[in-house]
Amino acid sequence: MIKPKLYITRKVPEEIVEPFREYFSISMWQYEEEPVPRDILLKEVVDAHSILCMLSERVDKEVFSVGRSLQVVANLAVGYDNIDLEAASEAGVIVTNTPGVLTESTADLGFSLLLATARRIVEANQYIKEDKWKNWSPYLLAGTDVYNKTIGIVGMGRIGEAIARRAKGFGMEILYHNRSRKVEAEDRVGATYVEFHTLLEKADFVISVVPATPETNGMFTNEAFRKMKDSAVFINISRGSVVNEKALLEALESEQIAAAGLDVFAEEPIRANHPLLNKSNVICLPHIGSASMETRTKMLQLCLENITGVLQGTGPITEVPH
Ligand code: NAP
Ligand code: GLV
Ligand code: GLV
Repeated sequence: MIKPKLYITRKVPEEIVEPFREYFSISMWQYEEEPVPRDILLKEVVDAHSILCMLSERVDKEVFSVGRSLQVVANLAVGYDNIDLEAASEAGVIVTNTPGVLTESTADLGFSLLLATARRIVEANQYIKEDKWKNWSPYLLAGTDVYNKTIGIVGMGRIGEAIARRAKGFGMEILYHNRSRKVEAEDRVGATYVEFHTLLEKADFVISVVPATPETNGMFTNEAFRKMKDSAVFINISRGSVVNEKALLEALESEQIAAAGLDVFAEEPIRANHPLLNKSNVICLPHIGSASMETRTKMLQLCLENITGVLQGTGPITEVPH
C-alpha cells in the first residue's frame, strides 16, 4: 500500500516523527531555524496529503490550489491567522491547531514578561554587563510593583485565564474583557468583566491575549493608549496585528504609558533597528510564548496525531472551529 505523504515545513526532532513513518511517507524541510522557501513549499505540497506547518508559513489559496491531494493542514500554534480558512474549507481541507497543550507555558512567559517589564529585569542585567554598577543606591533601577495592582486581561480565553490564576497569586485585582462574559472564569479566578475602555482606564497592567481577527486588528489604537494610565504597563503576547505599533511608539515617547513588554510584532522577525527596540522601557522577545522543550514536543505530537486522525479516518483531535 502506498503511504500518504506528510510534508513538515521545518526540521523537527527525528525521534518525535519516527513513530509516524510507519503510516506516512514523511519529508521535511532541512533546516531548523530557517523557514521553507515559498517555491519549495509549493512544490512539496503538489503530492502531499497533509502538511505540518509553522506560524511563519502563509497557507493561502495558492497552497490549496496546488495541493490537490491535501486533506489536512496541522498548524504548530494555537493561533491560525496564517491560514486562509475560507480557502481551506472551499478545498475541503481540515485545519487543526494546538490549543491547551501550550496554555500554561504561554501564561508563564506572559507573566514573566510582565514581571520583567515592571521590575526592569533586562535593563538591570544589561547595566551590570556594561559595567555600570559602581554603587548601590535607593532608586537604582527602581521599577513598579506588581503585587496588589490591577491587571486588565484582554481576551479571557484559555491563556487569559491561566494568566489570571498567576495574577491571583500576586494579590492582583483582575479585570477582563471579551466579546462575551465568561462567568465560570469569574467564579474560578475572581475576575470582573468590564468594557474595553473601562479596562484601559483602570488597569495598571494591560495584557493582550486575543486572537488576530479582522475585529481585533489594530484594536490598541492611539485612543486606547491615551485611555491608559500614564503609569500603565502594556504587555502583548497575542499577535502583533492587534496593536497599532506607531500609536504604541507615540504613547511611549509622549509618556502616555510607562513601559511595554512585547513577544509579538506586526511583522516578524523584527530587526535590531526596530524603533520599539531602542527604548529602555520596552522589552522585546522573539515570539517565544510557548517555547519550552516540553510544550514544543507536546505541540508537535498533537499536530502528528491530528494528521493521523484525519488520514486514518478517525477524525482530528483539535480542529479549528469554522
Ligand atoms: P482562546 O481560548 O480562544 O481565547 C481567546 C479569547 O479572546 C477568548 O476568550 C475570546 O472571547 C477573546 N476574544 C476573541 N475575539 C475578541 C474580540 N474581538 N474582543 C475581545 N475579546 C475577544 O485562545 P488562547 O488559547 O487563549 O490563545 C489566544 C491567542 O494567544 C492565540 O489566538 C494566539 O494568537 C496567541 N498566542 C500567542 C503565543 C505566543 O507565542 N506569544 C502562544 C500561544 C497563543 P470571546 O469569544 O467571548 O470574545
Ligand atoms: C503561537 O503564537 C501560537 O499561536 O501558538
Ligand atoms: C535589601 O537588600 C534589603 O535588605 O532591603
